[in-house]
Amino acid sequence: MSDIYSKIKKYVYGSPLKTGAVVIDVPASEGEPKPFEYDAAGGTFTYTMKDRDMVFGLGETVRGINKRGWRYTSNNSDDPHHEETKESLYASQNFLIIDDGAKCFGVFVDNPGTVTFDIGYTSASVLTIKAQYNDTDFYVIDGDSPLELVTTFRKLVGKSYMPPVWAFGYGQSRWGYKTAEDIREVARRYKEADIPVDMIYMDIDYMQDFKDFTVNPERFPDFENFVQEMKEQGIHLIPIIDAGVKIEDGYDVYEEGVKNGFFCAKEDGTNLVAAVWPGKVHFPDFLNPKAAEWFGRKYKVLTDAGIDGFWNDMNEPAIFYTEDHLKEVFDGIEEFKGKDIDIWEYFKFNDLVSSLSNNAEDYRRFYHNFNGVKVRHDKVHNLYGFYMTKAAGEAFKEITDNDVLLFSRASYTGMHRYGGVWTGDNFAWWSHLLLNIKMMPSLNMTGFLYSGADIGGFNANTTEDLMMRWVEFGLFTPLFRNHSALGTRDQELYRFERKKDFKNLIELRHALVPYIIRNFRDAVENDTMYIKPLSFEYRGDERAREVEDQLLVGDSIMIAPVHEQNANGRYVYLPEKMKMLRFRSYNDYDEEILEAGDHYVPAKLNEVLVFIRPGRKLELAKPARCMRDLDMEHLTEIAF
Ligand code: GLC
Repeated sequence: MSDIYSKIKKYVYGSPLKTGAVVIDVPASEGEPKPFEYDAAGGTFTYTMKDRDMVFGLGETVRGINKRGWRYTSNNSDDPHHEETKESLYASQNFLIIDDGAKCFGVFVDNPGTVTFDIGYTSASVLTIKAQYNDTDFYVIDGDSPLELVTTFRKLVGKSYMPPVWAFGYGQSRWGYKTAEDIREVARRYKEADIPVDMIYMDIDYMQDFKDFTVNPERFPDFENFVQEMKEQGIHLIPIIDAGVKIEDGYDVYEEGVKNGFFCAKEDGTNLVAAVWPGKVHFPDFLNPKAAEWFGRKYKVLTDAGIDGFWNDMNEPAIFYTEDHLKEVFDGIEEFKGKDIDIWEYFKFNDLVSSLSNNAEDYRRFYHNFNGVKVRHDKVHNLYGFYMTKAAGEAFKEITDNDVLLFSRASYTGMHRYGGVWTGDNFAWWSHLLLNIKMMPSLNMTGFLYSGADIGGFNANTTEDLMMRWVEFGLFTPLFRNHSALGTRDQELYRFERKKDFKNLIELRHALVPYIIRNFRDAVENDTMYIKPLSFEYRGDERAREVEDQLLVGDSIMIAPVHEQNANGRYVYLPEKMKMLRFRSYNDYDEEILEAGDHYVPAKLNEVLVFIRPGRKLELAKPARCMRDLDMEHLTEIAF
């Protein structure tokens, strides 16, 4: 531990709040935050990038593993359009590595408001970091390699969350399972198709009128028995919890929150009224420790019924509209009424209405009681999902004896100690499969090890081939969940023609679980990465530096997912000689030794490419019907 102080320097600007991101108190250094130059007038940190510098990190963001050439803004946003022109997604993980292949350094910006990372966007060789409110703990990290920087950073921010073993199985989710019968049917049809399933997720429809910690008694009669019935089949039910609490007289969570002052209030002291799925809601003030403790304990309603997994959603917090802003928009509309508007006024009119959701002004309307300090929301915006998840994670220690699966949509560094993340509302696009591939190592750097995307795509209609290729990549992501939006084409694996291939793939996941868990645990315990870019291990290999669609998974294998439609193979770069396995199922695969260099490798739609590194081994279990029945002791090994 003592060593860590020699590797990390902290520079303090303004009066930073204790965000909870770090677990080690680093004394403040004086002077310039070298190699950055600090401009006090503009509050900007600037570093001139060398031609060879690559920039890694930032966790859940758009674009590539090398973040160079774009501007990213940490400002947790409920925006389902994860296009490459976006700057913000749901997460803020402000850790960067700058690496020229020989020398490198890291930087962590602990500031929970909006922070912009301009990585060669405004000026191709200049990296600038600028916070909207410069109350910042700015950490500069020294190290000899990107992997060492990751480990030092992760010691600073604390150990990553370790989920229960069964959470490494396969999960089926869909927005639109409305009744216990719907869920029974999913379980039944998976069984009929002989495809294992370990978790079925319950989206907002299980609740009574979208009220947190309620279960609709007509659609889910005798809920406790239903949870048990599913468990007997080896299936864990995983309900969603949303951040907003419905405003409704007689609803205990609402009434207790109001009575105790646990909701976020405006300047005049009245609680903010926003609208999300339940209709009008108040937002619990998760930053107030008392409110957090109160909300966390509410999960007991469900843990007492046998539930042992949750996903926390809408916790940026997403706002469809606020009552205040809606009124302003209606007033604005009045001005257009009866007018003969020209095309520019038409655009203004349009903008007025579309300004309702997730409006920056709304995030300035309410306040938190953050450990006794009144703070305007926008200054701590990116902490909201973190503190919701922390509230749940801390409560679980008190309210249940079980290990609990927990992940969230919004996040900030520090939340990785309490839960994982899923990457939100992607699309059923091939480009989003590729985005998922590129995001995983970045998430791993920042400590969000238990993570994954909505497999098959959330929005828009998927196709069988996209689903299959996505499952083939998802086999290696710790969170392995098929999820889709209401109104899209059904995408449970039994819906497709090639059920047998899907069965083989899910069984292959089960076979891989011991390898995944061994390496995942190792990454948690030693503050390392479970999924890595090639360049982090093959230092000095110029080609490996640029590979963005092949990844190292654990200590022994490299994967090269096929991510293009109608492709029956792909080019693969091997930094060294490896043993290639082409899996069709856990016990049906070809083996071939390939020399270092470039290869075109065939991989039919149902085939998965895995490469074993020299001197390493892949251990496989014999698949079982579900995770509970998986024998993790008797493994077969494929060595090279
Ligand atoms: C949000 C979530 C999505 C969920 C939906 C309904 O869009 O990101 O996963 O299905 O809300 O709850």
